[in-house]
Amino acid sequence: MSQGIRDKVLWITGASSGIGRALTLRLVEQNNFVIASSRRLDALTELQKIAPSRLRVLDCDLSDDAVMPGVARRLAGFTDHLDMVIACAGTCEYDDDLQLDVTMYRRVFDGNFFALVNTLKCAQPLLAASRSPVFAALGSLSSVVPFPRAEAYGSSKAAVAYFLESVRADTSLTPLRVVHIRPGFVDTRLTQRNDFDMPFLMTPDQAAERIEQGLCGVGHTVDFPKRLSWPLRFLGFFSSIWFRFCVPKMTRIRTLRKN
Ligand SMILES: NC(=O)c1ccc[n+]([C@@H]2O[C@H](COP(=O)([O-])OP(=O)(O)OC[C@H]3O[C@@H](n4cnc5c(N)ncnc54)[C@H](OP(=O)(O)O)[C@@H]3O)[C@@H](O)[C@H]2O)c1
Repeated sequence: MSQGIRDKVLWITGASSGIGRALTLRLVEQNNFVIASSRRLDALTELQKIAPSRLRVLDCDLSDDAVMPGVARRLAGFTDHLDMVIACAGTCEYDDDLQLDVTMYRRVFDGNFFALVNTLKCAQPLLAASRSPVFAALGSLSSVVPFPRAEAYGSSKAAVAYFLESVRADTSLTPLRVVHIRPGFVDTRLTQRNDFDMPFLMTPDQAAERIEQGLCGVGHTVDFPKRLSWPLRFLGFFSSIWFRFCVPKMTRIRTLRKN
């Protein structure tokens, strides 16, 4: 049986709600020292009351490049090293009716992709000071096959996938372990807006448990739940089946926009 993550120093982004919050609560309870980030200071301050001695609050907008030097300084003020970063900060918006609103696409890429690049930028010097550092980030099973309406969200998560693989390649001679976490549907603020069926919907606590199990292993990809990830990976491999039989039942577009 896994010992779980204990006595480590972690930075968890997206800690004010959903998966990041559940992970923070779980890992603080297991005697880890957690630096919890998000933009909403009030939500983080509430969280800190649960374990004031083992939780520090770092409120910041990770998509704002200008504040990154300050974020790095504040991080370094809390700790001289990071054993693990779990980057959960993220956002989701769908492109209904193929409107291709570039402002919305940029917002989604800012929240999912550039925020992740900034996270690694701030964390790298502190990860370098750990003997076996881990950099883990939340992608999504939506990048395994192309979903209708997910042009912005899915592309940003595909970018996350490539970024993590590329960082893994670049750091292959260092002790850094890079982990790509791809959840299915988890019941959070992010999915509560969804107006479609979400098969095998999990609670944030269940997701946090799966993520911890995955991080305690040796792999570089953590997919869950398996009953969703395996069929999707199969369909990603045989994409003609996906496009012929699955996609027509999901898309809402019947004609192309004329303006
Ligand atoms: N829920 C799912 O089914 C699901 C499935 C696959 C992947 N994921 C991924 O899992 C991650 C967590 O999502 P969730 O479902 O837990 O959603 P959530 O409850 O909406 O949490 C998102 C977190 O990210 C923070 N955040 C967003 N933009 C930020 C920014 N620019 N700077 C700093 N913090 C920011 C939010 O806090 P503030 O608003 O306080 O900043 C919040 O704490 C996301 O990357 C999401 O794409 C979720």
